[in-house]
Amino acid sequence: MSGHPAGSKEYWHEKYIDQNTPWDLNGPHPAMTMVLNEVLKTTKHRPLKIYVPGMGNGHDAAFFAKHGHQTIGGDISEKAVKNAKERYQDITNLDLKVLNAIQDKNPGNLDLIFDRAMFCALPASVEDQYLESCTQKLNKNGIFASIIFTKVDRENGPPWAISVDNFTLKMQKRGFKLFFQKNVPVTYKTSFIIQESIVIYTRA
Ligand SMILES: C[S@@+](CC[C@H](N)C(=O)[O-])C[C@H]1O[C@@H](n2cnc3c(N)ncnc32)[C@H](O)[C@@H]1O
Repeated sequence: MSGHPAGSKEYWHEKYIDQNTPWDLNGPHPAMTMVLNEVLKTTKHRPLKIYVPGMGNGHDAAFFAKHGHQTIGGDISEKAVKNAKERYQDITNLDLKVLNAIQDKNPGNLDLIFDRAMFCALPASVEDQYLESCTQKLNKNGIFASIIFTKVDRENGPPWAISVDNFTLKMQKRGFKLFFQKNVPVTYKTSFIIQESIVIYTRA
């Protein structure tokens, strides 16, 4: 078991070094086409400038870039970023780098921030800081999309569950409204994730 505090940079890095990554799908999340189609309904801007924080091995960031969008994928773990580069660095429009999604001020002026299992990977103490940082990175019509875990059968995270209602309250406080929501089949390869859900927010 890791001796590092849950959610710390070292905690995540060790998971990638040990290849103990049950969230990794070895390809984009199956709902990515749905997510992108819904996002494209909300804006005429093309290509989108997208940031995928906590991208892990980079599959979803690569998905957006392969669809022609200018995409930045970041992760706090150097090993995750190395893995992503080994697999995806030849894709044009894709910039992969070590980024702390809470502390780094860049990237900015974004059309879309998408995270899967990144918000839910954060301890409650930094959730609001993360959403605040995302809000500041988005342009005035920016969209925030996430695949969250709405039911988790485990006392201590990561991951931590959040209901769609509670997530929406947090986004409403920051001037967003819920544009799209759908429960999707669970993809995380453990027994404790009970429900996974897409949420997409636009500016209110
Ligand atoms: C459960 S994994 C999900 C990875 C990826 N989104 C996926 O779906 O495969 C959570 C990811 O968030 C990253 N992470 C955790 N805290 C972070 C932070 N403050 N900034 C950037 N990445 C972070 C971890 O390194 C890990 O790759």
